[in-house]
Amino acid sequence: MKVVVVLVLFSLVALSNGASIGRPVSRKGRPVLSLSFNAPEELLSRTRNGELGNANDYMDEVLFLVREQIVLLGFDRIQLPDGDFSFTWDEYPGVTGGVYLHDGLATGMETIHRVGDATLSSNATIIFFESDCGINTASFGYAISILFMDIGPTASMTGTADYINFYFHSTIDILSGLVVVDVFDLKQMGHISTEITGLGIFNWLAEIIVDFTLNLLAPFFKELIEGPITNLINAVLQAYVDSLRNPPTTMAGLAV
Ligand SMILES: *[C@@H]1O[C@H](CO)[C@@H](O)[C@H](O)[C@H]1NC(C)=O
Repeated sequence: MKVVVVLVLFSLVALSNGASIGRPVSRKGRPVLSLSFNAPEELLSRTRNGELGNANDYMDEVLFLVREQIVLLGFDRIQLPDGDFSFTWDEYPGVTGGVYLHDGLATGMETIHRVGDATLSSNATIIFFESDCGINTASFGYAISILFMDIGPTASMTGTADYINFYFHSTIDILSGLVVVDVFDLKQMGHISTEITGLGIFNWLAEIIVDFTLNLLAPFFKELIEGPITNLINAVLQAYVDSLRNPPTTMAGLAV
């Protein structure tokens, strides 16, 4: 199932210095740590009273903040890498053509939400926080240029995934408050459909183009999810835990 690989695309994971990752198209360059939220009063008083709270509530709050950062940092419109390959056509021996994929874009990361129940557990020193989460409107597109004896058309490709689910696991050091997101992996994906229009007499290339695209995108998304998106979630969760541990004085005053 090569299609599965594509899903990985849409997954998240963040801000790396990785050279091969396309920068988000818009609003790039904002520091991830420009978080300026306050933990809700109710959560603050709960934590102060030593109540563990509801893991689902925490996860929903964290993912709300993650969605905000994804949009702020431009990961809601992910620029995809260009790609090209050459081909020959039996009917024209000796002639080599080229397929060029460009202006690729993926969207959907900004819809990430909790799937199922989150859980909080702990031993003497560490809190474990885990949950499934997913996106359900992932899609991508490319413009395609075929070059063949001056007769190549311009075509386009779109792809959508019914859903893409991830497994999230993190540890929080009880003494220091240090957060480590140690797992953020693709867990499951729904049906992926792709469509290419405009190939005309080069329609026979469609399947080859789809295969090529999936192979191009799989490592790109794997790196994006394991790097920048995981880092982003880690930074948000750290800021969230920090705000619970050291609430702003104004909030503390309000919460009594
Ligand atoms: C708590 O869990 C962490 C992570 O698995 C482990 O490294 C540590 O030894 C555990 N501590 C205790 C007291 O069991």
